[in-house]
Amino acid sequence: MKKKKTVYVCSECGASFPTWSGKCSSCNQWNTLVEEVAIPKKSSGTVKTGSYSKPKPITQAREERKYERVSTGIKTLDEALGGGVVTGQVILVSGEPGIGKSTLLLQVASNLSNEKKVLYITGEESAHQVYVRGERIGALNDNLYILAETNLETIINAIEQENPDFIILDSVQTIYSSELESAAGSVSQVREVSGKITEIAKSKGISSIVVGQVTKEGSIAGPKVLEHIVDTVAQFEGERGHAYRILKIIKNRFGAAGELAVFSMKDSGLEEVSNPSSFFLSERPEGESGSVIFPFTEGSKPVLVEVQALVSKTVYAVPQRKAQGIDLNRLSIILAILEKEARFFLKDRDVFINVVGGLHIKEPAVDLAVALAIASSFKNVPVPKNVAVFGELGLTGEIRSVHYTEMRIKEAKRFGFDKILIPSGSSIDDKNVIPVKNLSQALKVLEY
Ligand SMILES: Nc1ncnc2c1ncn2[C@@H]1O[C@H](COP(=O)(O)OP(=O)(O)OP(=O)(O)O)[C@@H](O)[C@H]1O
Ligand SMILES: [Mg+2]
Repeated sequence: MKKKKTVYVCSECGASFPTWSGKCSSCNQWNTLVEEVAIPKKSSGTVKTGSYSKPKPITQAREERKYERVSTGIKTLDEALGGGVVTGQVILVSGEPGIGKSTLLLQVASNLSNEKKVLYITGEESAHQVYVRGERIGALNDNLYILAETNLETIINAIEQENPDFIILDSVQTIYSSELESAAGSVSQVREVSGKITEIAKSKGISSIVVGQVTKEGSIAGPKVLEHIVDTVAQFEGERGHAYRILKIIKNRFGAAGELAVFSMKDSGLEEVSNPSSFFLSERPEGESGSVIFPFTEGSKPVLVEVQALVSKTVYAVPQRKAQGIDLNRLSIILAILEKEARFFLKDRDVFINVVGGLHIKEPAVDLAVALAIASSFKNVPVPKNVAVFGELGLTGEIRSVHYTEMRIKEAKRFGFDKILIPSGSSIDDKNVIPVKNLSQALKVLEY
């Protein structure tokens, strides 16, 4: 039998190569090339070249179709999306296995089906499984249609025949196009499926929510183009064994990115947490060293989170450094600054950082909280319980301004924090605020 021709496709950028190599020469990522069956080129005879729809002045580009925002029935989710789901919007929801993606989307589908026709396409589970979940979480509705199908062409046909207002596709990695030879979930299939779904969503004005699985590193499985194709990317996060789940909007063409919605997983489904700060602070230990409160925000809603550090004498030749919720490289830099600028001797100490609640914080405003949590654990002196801090650390120990200063202060004060350490660059006149210029000054304020 003739062997099928294969190519190596980068799972990050989608570039393809005839031979395997450790590094993708297109996007410079390591170990991202995967073998796939080469897609035969379509015969050029069928392709119409030269025809195009006539460009028009921007002033006449307005479509007659009504673009409306529809509520998902979950207030925090609507807010995070910028006010509901827009006509024709394609939303990608990704998250680890078992985090609750299908649960959330079935709830949303059921809410939407009160007024709209919703088609829930499941490639992962049988219609009965979806029914059982629906029964458990109270999401049974006559206007919510289930289609258990994995073939893209059949799905497109169903969408065209059924004409739903909303589609939910769970998940993009389980759907395959029979026009391609590679298996479902491969780079080319994911690209094809998401491309076709987006095309039909845009042309017919159907809003769609697509589930995407994640790789073991936690990024969205499949090529980066997947994130480029869709309008909105939402990441579902949370700690295993804990009930809370955080939905973070990473990209949004119809609203601000960085917004988040917090949920609590119950037997009856996901329940929204309307006051996330009190939720994250509820288990804060009293009078323990190594815990600092940080007002986190990347969007319009600030949340108070607890940053914990554990500094202990190492038993290894090379001390361990582990970080959960912040970037490990960032931790190394903060440790170096603490050693050089504040003369903290940490070379024989293991350092562990944890952001309570399973949040992954990318914004540098967390630096000061991390540094002070380490200082507190190292000295074994608790940070006073009325203290909240934020600020980015520069390499010389200076504390740099960050955005949303006022919003962070307001949230901290709302929860009774009346000693808030902030970068001195932001001119805020408030008796509860202590501007600090550099790390040494911040340590001095807390008497470390
Ligand atoms: N009574 C229950 N029966 C089943 N699951 C429950 C129950 N109560 C709560 N759950 C939660 O629902 C979660 C499963 O959620 P769901 O199937 O929506 O996840 P998912 O993200 O779609 O997973 P996958 O990636 O495997 O499809 C379980 O991990 C569990 O925490
Ligand atoms: Mg699922």
